[in-house]
Amino acid sequence: MALVNTKKMFEMAYKNGYAIGAFNVNNMEITQGIINAVAEEKAPLILQISRGARKYAKNSYLKAIINVVVAENPDIPVAINLDHGDTFETCKEFVDDGFTSVMIDASSKPFAENISETKKVVEYAHARDVVVEAELGQLGGIEEDVVGVAQDDISQHLADPNQVEEFVAKTGVDSLAVAIGTSHGAYKFKKEPKLAFDVIQEIAEKLPGFPLVMHGSSSVLKEFVDLINKYGGNMPNAMGVPEQAVSEAAKMAVCKVNIDTDLRLALTAKIRQVFAETPAEFDPRKYLGPGREAIKAMVKHKLHVLGCAGKAAECM
Ligand code: G3H
Ligand code: 13P
Ligand code: ZN
Repeated sequence: MALVNTKKMFEMAYKNGYAIGAFNVNNMEITQGIINAVAEEKAPLILQISRGARKYAKNSYLKAIINVVVAENPDIPVAINLDHGDTFETCKEFVDDGFTSVMIDASSKPFAENISETKKVVEYAHARDVVVEAELGQLGGIEEDVVGVAQDDISQHLADPNQVEEFVAKTGVDSLAVAIGTSHGAYKFKKEPKLAFDVIQEIAEKLPGFPLVMHGSSSVLKEFVDLINKYGGNMPNAMGVPEQAVSEAAKMAVCKVNIDTDLRLALTAKIRQVFAETPAEFDPRKYLGPGREAIKAMVKHKLHVLGCAGKAAECM
């Protein structure tokens, strides 16, 4: 099966109360770790590439790897998404590169500008059977090319349910990333967060059947932060979204859950462990290989948190 867009996946995820994992990729080992997990668990898959990932590895290399993933796994529906596209021009480039989904993140702009920028992307993408995700409200946290609001301000920038109907009607967008109190990266919160489930519920009532997306969904599991610190790292106070909350959102209107940081942590912890335990090691296969296995184990676990394990066939 060729690369697909996310329409069927979201339809089934909404109807059957689960969410599809959207995992960020930068290289071959991360991509292989993810697909090995998904193939074993028979789950639908969204792979995503940020502008930072494109800068690091080039779309041509990452697309070539993903083409192999698709060819070798005909029973797994795979979509490929641009994560946090900043302008129409960036989105157009990714559509032209053969992506089946693009995100236009104009959420930091005034509402009217977010609408006009999103609409322009939707017109270009839909003419090529590519779906579009947009964002309302602003998340916290910082990653390479994605800058959000400060930790203390997260609750001031949640998505406004009163804007969603107008936004969707005027743009024709296919899914909406809504700020509900999450944050990007490993240093999300100082204490356990409370996600705004009321915002999800209110939006679902205004837009029945419409798929929502949750960004900044990594849980920053203590076990992995502890391993990193044990083997020479220094990640104090790293805290994420409890998995219980992620599972709850996945049962509601949230159909896509973005996870990057938890995979980075699993990979980093394993590589640090190999270096600490075998300091004479210098063969990259001896640390990237175990790192790839660590990614696989983390993704398998996440597929069960999201409820999408075993759902590949119904999303074809
Ligand atoms: O939301 C952002 C993603 O985790 C990608 O981060 O810009 O560091 O590649 P990045
Ligand atoms: P995390 O940093 O919580 O993994 O979020 C990733 C994300 O939202 C990518 O768009
Ligand atoms: Zn994000």
